[in-house]
Amino acid sequence: MKFLTIALLVLLSVSASLAGNCFQTTGYHTSFTATGFNSILPSTNGVPISFYEAGTINVDFAQQQMAVTFDILTTDSQVLGQLYAFGANQTMYVVNIDENGSTCTKLPLNVPIPTSFPNVTADLGPINIGKFQTEVLEIVENGSQQKVLYDLQNCALVSSYMLNEPSQPGVTTVNFLNFENSPAPIALPSICTNPSMSIKSNNRHISKSSVITGPKSIQQLLRPFF
Ligand SMILES: *[C@@H]1O[C@H](CO)[C@@H](O)[C@H](O)[C@H]1NC(C)=O
Ligand SMILES: *[C@@H]1O[C@H](CO)[C@@H](O)[C@H](O)[C@H]1NC(C)=O
Ligand SMILES: *[C@@H]1O[C@H](CO)[C@@H](O)[C@H](O)[C@H]1NC(C)=O
Ligand SMILES: *[C@@H]1O[C@H](CO)[C@@H](O)[C@H](O)[C@H]1NC(C)=O
Repeated sequence: MKFLTIALLVLLSVSASLAGNCFQTTGYHTSFTATGFNSILPSTNGVPISFYEAGTINVDFAQQQMAVTFDILTTDSQVLGQLYAFGANQTMYVVNIDENGSTCTKLPLNVPIPTSFPNVTADLGPINIGKFQTEVLEIVENGSQQKVLYDLQNCALVSSYMLNEPSQPGVTTVNFLNFENSPAPIALPSICTNPSMSIKSNNRHISKSSVITGPKSIQQLLRPFF
């Protein structure tokens, strides 16, 4: 759960700003990679953490639903899982995948599901990522600051830099891949609809191969880039 919280904070706080008509969306879905060095995120209780994360996020502001997949690498662990959150019945489901299999745990909803994108606090003007033009939008929220590279032409998040307080330097950078400015349908996987869901799956082969070769895994996501 410790790492799940990290994942969510990165995702939620990064789900940042839009401009003009781009704001009118009812949600969004995207893949992402995130890298943090000495990142201090609200849930880490002031403790800096360094990590790499790859995953997907799908948020429906209007229906108050959210689905997240995450694969987090730190110096001493790799954590792979999924989260499904539903505002209507105040329930969330956490799928944990490890070498022994997958489990799904049903819990009371205790993560915020965003109702909109955060407000832009400043437009810092254009910058090119490569030669591709984006607008730098600043979002200051609850004392945390981020600068988002935003594609105004296509209503798309491109990249984000989240900065710690200057007294404790640290930064988290996020790239958004295949961003879509609308939510996708959300359905629970069968492991969470099965009555025995909180019991470890005994299908070692399937779960192990999903850890190693799952389409959202770090190994797979790194391959095209490095
Ligand atoms: C909560 O709502 C979701 C989405 O409709 C549903 O799949 C899930 O079974 C519900 N859980 C409970 C405990 O009602
Ligand atoms: C997997 O199961 C083995 C044997 O029960 C146990 O020693 C190991 O800690 C388990 N691994 C995880 C990640 O829970
Ligand atoms: C954005 O600003 C408006 C007006 O100040 C406020 O009503 C709204 O709650 C803010 N939205 C967010 C997500 O902070
Ligand atoms: C900001 O702080 C308020 C009040 O403590 C809280 O309700 C809200 O969820 C926080 N927003 C984020 C993005 O953490």
